[in-house]
Amino acid sequence: MPSYEVRTPQAAYSVLVEWGALGRTASLIPARTGRVFVITEERIWRHHGSRLTAGFSCPPEVLYFPGGEDRKRLATVEQLAEQMVAREADRTSLILAFGGGIVGDVAGFLAAGFMRGIPVIQAPTTLLAQVDAAVGGKTGVNLASGKNLFGAFHQPLAVLIDPQTLTTLPEREYRAGLFEVIKHGVIRSPELFELMRRRIQDVFARQPEVVERMISESVRLKSEVVSADEREADLRRILNFGHTFGHALEAETGFVRFLHGEAVGFGMQAAAELACRAGYLDRAACDLIRAVVDEYGPIPSLAGIDPDRLIALMASDKKTLQGRVHFVLPEAIGRVRVVTGIDPALVRASIQAALG
Ligand code: GLY
Repeated sequence: MPSYEVRTPQAAYSVLVEWGALGRTASLIPARTGRVFVITEERIWRHHGSRLTAGFSCPPEVLYFPGGEDRKRLATVEQLAEQMVAREADRTSLILAFGGGIVGDVAGFLAAGFMRGIPVIQAPTTLLAQVDAAVGGKTGVNLASGKNLFGAFHQPLAVLIDPQTLTTLPEREYRAGLFEVIKHGVIRSPELFELMRRRIQDVFARQPEVVERMISESVRLKSEVVSADEREADLRRILNFGHTFGHALEAETGFVRFLHGEAVGFGMQAAAELACRAGYLDRAACDLIRAVVDEYGPIPSLAGIDPDRLIALMASDKKTLQGRVHFVLPEAIGRVRVVTGIDPALVRASIQAALG
């Protein structure tokens, strides 16, 4: 089974990628663990719960959390924590985050804070969470004023990726995850970008060989980046390609119109435009990035989005440091740089171009 290692100052753990891997969950739970709390969505539990718990000697406690970016809030974390207390959780308890990126972020943050921190195992079930969100220990929730503004780094004990879960993933969510795969191609893997460019039909058909390559290459790359820079002081910032614009779009539309991956798709188009207009990327490469993103669309309508509102929201994004907005801009397919001090007129024009 392909396995990738993450080694950070906080923790060292494996990310396992294997068809049917959910059946191994019980073997990853350390001896002397008390109650196991599965945080999940009802739909995921119905489809895949029995495979997750196959080797358990006693059934876990299951807490449902209806997904949706608008539910990724502090109030949800408090409600889940209260339910855990009511079911006699203690410091020996363990959380199993079993769902998409939102479940992983909320359950991971719950684990980071519950009784000052208990272990979490991430078992992601969406493509987006498998290729990105579940690896690297970022956890947290949104504030009304912005995306992921409240959270913690809390590395998991292990990440268990079972591509079989993608067989029941709704089409729109699958597509949203594909944008994060394209992101990985642009920032660090020309081979992955080529795969996304040339195997579009196989990607849409969820052909197992292609799905495993998308996940494995993304996890390999992400494990490498997170091991080099857990706290996003430097290298990890490249993973935010498309996110400066994308987070602003999500916040502007109340976190309900776009899935996160779709907003990143828009954000990558704006960032590619900006890289071109600011002289970092040639027009042909910019157009190629935009064309590949378009192939995996369409995303919901961008009608009525005001570029100036997005620019204002970028200023409150957590990637903005001391008032300076950081942009991750491609210089070529497979290479990006982090840039500040860009002329606001260029930013505006790039958003306008991406809005179409
Ligand atoms: N999704 C970006 C990161 O984990 O750093």
